[in-house]
Amino acid sequence: MRILGIETSCDETAAAVVDDGVHVRSSIVQSQVELHSAFGGIVPEIASRAHTENITRVIDKALDDAGASLDSIDAVAVVNRPGLIGSLLVGVSAAKALALANDLPLIAVNHLHAHVYALGLDAEPITKPLIALVTSGGHTNLYLVRDDDDMNLIGRTHDDAAGEAFDKAAALLGLGFPGGPALSKAAEGGKTNAVVFKRAMLDRDTLDFSFSGLKTALLYHIKGQDKSRDADTLKDINVSDVAASFQEAVVTVLVRQTLRACKRTGIKTVGVGGGVAANKRLREKFEEEAKPLGIEVRFSRPEYSTDNAAMVAGFGHVLFEKGKLADPRVTAYARNDEELISLEN
Ligand code: KG4
Ligand code: ZN
Repeated sequence: MRILGIETSCDETAAAVVDDGVHVRSSIVQSQVELHSAFGGIVPEIASRAHTENITRVIDKALDDAGASLDSIDAVAVVNRPGLIGSLLVGVSAAKALALANDLPLIAVNHLHAHVYALGLDAEPITKPLIALVTSGGHTNLYLVRDDDDMNLIGRTHDDAAGEAFDKAAALLGLGFPGGPALSKAAEGGKTNAVVFKRAMLDRDTLDFSFSGLKTALLYHIKGQDKSRDADTLKDINVSDVAASFQEAVVTVLVRQTLRACKRTGIKTVGVGGGVAANKRLREKFEEEAKPLGIEVRFSRPEYSTDNAAMVAGFGHVLFEKGKLADPRVTAYARNDEELISLEN
């Protein structure tokens, strides 16, 4: 069973061909980072225009690289939620057109579920049940995963995503975009306790996250007591120490909330995916805190941590097998439609 996957939810135009949900025959990701970096963040209008320009070529390349003709494709899977609406619509329109013209079944995929599926993609199968942390520029979600198609949202951010917090902090510290890699590099050798940033949510009975307060705290740290001072003035700041302290606050909350979910459920396996999964300190922190509890932590392969279409085609296979096909008139949704399941303490 061969599925063509399409992903355009944010700023990557991606297409992939995956056989039987696990054999990745091709995975093309066209990044738009250069287009957006001049603005210090993703500009939705620019993103959807770039998707429109690139989508046909990216799909053709995915088919070419897989040595696959359109005739050999059995179904088309596309991310239709959540994400930037203008961006999502480009992928959804392309997928609908391809499915209609070639008489193929269409599968609509939740981007976040595809991230969870990516944990086991091109890797040893991951033990279930598991607690999955999906942490990227757009999302910070915790899932209780009982099976490939049985995922329950048990925690989410109330405001900024963890990657977004890194991006905003890096911008304030003059480190460029995307901020995560730049900030973690700047943090190398810095003191993690040089600045005390609050670990939001750890003092509450919740599995949720909140990162926007950190950005404000950082802004005040830079400006000091001098309200008129320009936040761009960084001459009195030890950027390395501040970056290390900020990173420590973010990763501590990510790790603690995930392990809190393990404690509440008795689950001993954790999977971490999304762009922030690349963060070295996050990996170390999980290692430090999970190991003593006998909890195994797995990370998705780097190429399937960040946005890609192989995870979409792979998860599309799961949905196809369960008969969960999309209506040909399916559309895109900016918001995540999942209900939050509350786990009692
Ligand atoms: O999954 P992804 O490619 O796209 C989204 O769906 O958002 O994640 C991108 C995010 C950005 O916010 C980026 O700053 C962050 O992941 N990121 C990192 C690192 N590498 C990427 N954050 C912290 N440390 C990193 N090493
Ligand atoms: Zn993503």
